[in-house]
Amino acid sequence: MTPRQVSLIRQSFSHLVQLEAQVASIFYAKLFRLDPSLRPLFKGDMTEQGRKLMKVLGVVVASADRLDDVIPTVRGLGKRHVGYGVTEAHYQTVGQALIATLQEGLGEMFTDELREAWTLVYVTLSNAMIDAARVHLHAQQMERKMERQAASIHETVAHADQAERTDRTGRVMLWSIVAAATVAVFLAKYLATLH
Ligand code: HEM
Repeated sequence: MTPRQVSLIRQSFSHLVQLEAQVASIFYAKLFRLDPSLRPLFKGDMTEQGRKLMKVLGVVVASADRLDDVIPTVRGLGKRHVGYGVTEAHYQTVGQALIATLQEGLGEMFTDELREAWTLVYVTLSNAMIDAARVHLHAQQMERKMERQAASIHETVAHADQAERTDRTGRVMLWSIVAAATVAVFLAKYLATLH
C-alpha cells in the first residue's frame, strides 16, 4: 500500500470507530440482504460479533503500512472460518457488503481513491484467509484419506490372518485324516494276520 493509501485508510477508520455500533448493524443488514442464507452461520450475539470485526479491522488498519505482519494472524482467522461454515464464494459477498457499508457510513468522504485503498486491504486479507482455508481443507482431506487407507490395511491384515488360521485348520484336519487312514490300514493288516 502507498503511504497515501495508508493515511486515507487510517483517517476513514477513525470516523468509522465513532459509529461502531451503527457500522456493524449496517454491515450485517447489507450482508443478509445480499445473501439471506448466510444468516444461520452467525450463531453468537451480533453486537459482539460486530465489535470483534471492528477490532480486527482496527488491528489491520494500525498495521496498514506493514500488512505482511498481520498475515499469520489473519491466516489463523481463515482457518477458523472453515469451522464456521464459510466458503470461498462468501468472501466476495462479505467484501461487497463491507464496501457498501463504508460508502454509507462515510458518505462523501468515500472517494474512489478510498474505495480502492479499502478494496486492496480487503482483498489482501481475504486472499490470505482463503489460502489458509484451502491449506487447512487439503490437510483435513489428506488426514481422512490416510485414516481410510489405514482402516483398509487393517482390514486386509485381518482377512489375511483369518485366511491363515483357516489354512492352518485345514492342514491339521488333512494330516489327522492321513494319520487316521494310516492307522486304519495298519490295523486292517494286523487283523488280517490274525485269521
Ligand atoms: C477479511 C475478512 C474477514 C474478517 C476480518 C473476519 C473477522 C471475523 C472475526 C474477528 C470473527 C470472530 C471469531 C474469530 O476470531 O474466529 C469472525 C467470526 C465469524 N465470521 Fe468472519 N471475518 C471475515 C470474513 C468472513 C466471511 C467471508 C464470512 C462469511 C459469511 C464470515 C463469517 C463469520 C462467521 C459465521 C463467524 C462466527 C460468528 C459466530 O460464531 O456467531 N467472516 N469473523
